Amino acid sequence: MPSSTILLLETNPDAATAVERPLVGIGYQVTTTADPNDAVRRAGEFALVIVDVGSGPRSGEDVCREIRGTAAFSAVPVLCMCQTDDVEERVRYLEAGADDVVAKPFDPRELEARVEALLVRFQRSRDLAPLALAEDGVPARRSIIACFSPKGGVGTTMIAVNVASWLAARAPGRVLIADLDLQFGQVATHLNLKPQLTVADLARDEQSLREPDLLRTYTVKHEGGLAVLAAPGTPEPGRLIGPDQVNLLLSTARTAFDTLVVDAGSELDDRSLAVVARAEAVVIPIVPEIGALKALHSLLEYLTEVGSAESTATFVLNHLFAREMLSMKQIEAAIGTQVTAEIPYDPGLYLKAINEGVPIVQGAVNSAPARALGKLASLVSGIREGAAPASDDRRGLLGGLRRRG
Ligand SMILES: Nc1ncnc2c1ncn2[C@@H]1O[C@H](COP(=O)(O)OP(=O)(O)O)[C@@H](O)[C@H]1O
Ligand SMILES: [Mg+2]
Repeated sequence: MPSSTILLLETNPDAATAVERPLVGIGYQVTTTADPNDAVRRAGEFALVIVDVGSGPRSGEDVCREIRGTAAFSAVPVLCMCQTDDVEERVRYLEAGADDVVAKPFDPRELEARVEALLVRFQRSRDLAPLALAEDGVPARRSIIACFSPKGGVGTTMIAVNVASWLAARAPGRVLIADLDLQFGQVATHLNLKPQLTVADLARDEQSLREPDLLRTYTVKHEGGLAVLAAPGTPEPGRLIGPDQVNLLLSTARTAFDTLVVDAGSELDDRSLAVVARAEAVVIPIVPEIGALKALHSLLEYLTEVGSAESTATFVLNHLFAREMLSMKQIEAAIGTQVTAEIPYDPGLYLKAINEGVPIVQGAVNSAPARALGKLASLVSGIREGAAPASDDRRGLLGGLRRRG
C-alpha cells in the first residue's frame, strides 16, 4: 500500500518524528500539520488521517468527531493516537468515530500494521461500493455467493468454479461449491469429478439437509481443497427439489462451511430465486451479444419487480467472443446498469481448464483470465486479493485480517 498519502495532525512537534519516521520508512508520503482546523479542512485529500493531539485548544476527540461527521470524508480512515494506554481514552476516541487507535508508547511495527490494515479495509470498501455495505460502511464478508445468468453458455459455471476455487485455495476444506443448476449442472464436469451422490440424493435425506456433518458426507473434495456438491446427472431427479429444500440446504451448508458458492444456472424458477434472494452477492455474467443482453434486461426488470438482488448484484462482462461488435457503453445502455468486472477472452485456456478439470485460477495462476477471476472472487467475497493462499503466512500482524487459518 505504500505511496499512499497520510495526513498527520501532530500538536507536539517533538513527537512528530516518532510517528512519521516508521511510515515514511516503508514508503508512505506523510504530510504533517499542527493546526487542527487545517487537518479538518484537508482530510479529504489524503488516503488516511492520523490524529495525535496532546494539548491545545481542541481535543483529539473533537477533531476526530468533526472529520467523521463530514460525509465527504467518509471514505478516509482516521487513526487516533492515545496519549496513554488508558482504556477510557481509547473508548472516547472510538466513540468519537475513530476507525482505530494506537496507544502511546507505541511500537512502530504496530503503527505500520494498523495503518496498512486501515488502508486495505477502506480500499476494499471503496472497491465494493456497488455491493451492500454493513452499517458501519465496512463490507461484510459474504458467505453465500451465487452465480446466475438468464441465458446459458455465458460462463456462469466457469465463473462459479473459479471463484470457489480461488476462495478454497485460501481456506482449504472450508469452501463449498453447490451445483444448483438442477437441470444441466456442469460443476462436476468442470472439475473432472464423478460423484456418487448428488444434491438430489441429499434433498431426499431430510436429516442430512439439517445437519452440517451429515451434509458434508454428500460432498466430494476437489484436489484444490474445494468441497463439491454436484448436480444430478440427468434433469429428472432435480425436478423434485423444492425451494424449501434449497433454503434448508443453504442454511445448513452455511454452518458446515465458511463460504458457499452456488451455481444457480440459468433457469429462473422458485429454486433459483430462493438462491438469489438468500445470497449476499450475486454474480451475473453477461456476454457482448444482443440476445443475452435482452434476456438480462428482462431479468433485471423482473428482479426489481420482486424486490430481489438489486443491491447484491455484480455484473461481469465475460468476453466470450474473439471479435466483438458492442462497446461497453452500448452494453451498459442495453442492460441499464453498470458493469463492475470483466473477464478476458482466451481461445484455449478455458477449454483446457474444463478438459483437465483444473480451474484456471489453480492451473494457470498468472494468466490474465486467472488474475481477472481472482479479482472478481475478492470483490464478491470481501476477502482481499492480496490475501495469500493458506499455506503462505508471512505477514505477521496482518494475519488477523484474513479468515482464520
Ligand atoms: N472468456 C471466455 N473466453 C473464451 N471461452 C469462454 C470464456 N468464458 C467461458 N468460455 C467457454 O464458454 C463455454 C460455456 O461456459 P460455461 O461456464 O459452461 O457457461 P454456462 O454455465 O453459462 O452455461 C465453456 O466451454 C467455456 O470454456
Ligand atoms: Mg452452467
